[in-house]
Amino acid sequence: MSYNVAIDGPAGAGKSTIAKAVAKSMNLIYVDTGAMYRAMALYMLRKGISLEDTEEIIEKCPQADITIRYENGVQVVLLNGENVNEFLRTEEVGSAASVISPIPEVRRKLVELQKNLAAQRDCIMDGRDIGTCVLPNAQLKIFLTASSEVRAKRRYDELVQKGVEGDLSTILEDIKERDYRDTHREESPLKQAEDAVLIDTSNMSAEEVISTISRMCRESREQ
Ligand code: DC
Repeated sequence: MSYNVAIDGPAGAGKSTIAKAVAKSMNLIYVDTGAMYRAMALYMLRKGISLEDTEEIIEKCPQADITIRYENGVQVVLLNGENVNEFLRTEEVGSAASVISPIPEVRRKLVELQKNLAAQRDCIMDGRDIGTCVLPNAQLKIFLTASSEVRAKRRYDELVQKGVEGDLSTILEDIKERDYRDTHREESPLKQAEDAVLIDTSNMSAEEVISTISRMCRESREQ
């Protein structure tokens, strides 16, 4: 049986940074499920489909073939055969992903892909519904969070580092909106699984979080 770690939490909690580092130290593959929702959103944006037109999104969803490949341990998302990694991290695509991710047909398709990946490989998977829905039997579940202000500041610093202009109050508003959508949707809302360990990273360094979770992984693997 494969060894699976689930990491859930709101946007900007540091899930991907932490999961990537833990994957490296624990020799696991890192599965970024947000990137799959982003790839689906990118498909709809490219096709010029209105994000309000749920019927059309449901109809077009089967035409977006999303697959995952690993190159030197890095996840590559293929959208109908094209490597789309470089297009996924924009605010536009992130917001669009948040709008289309509540649609049950979208979720069903991507959750199946995620479950298959986790059944085949030892992995650490991050998202919103991993511990509650995708991998209910994961050997370790973490719910990673931080205050919305801290998360907005991290996103802002990330943009500054990339040389992209950003406005802190707009980012904070966006984070709050996304939190609301992710936690209030009917289908698989963002929620801490009952057996998940809560880690609030507001006052922790990335190194502290990585070493804490790596230790938990070692302990749960030994059991
Ligand atoms: O983690 P992220 O910012 O890349 O995710 C983009 C959007 O996709 C986010 O607003 C919620 C959605 N998402 C989801 O509904 N379920 C997941 N497992 C991962 C992401």
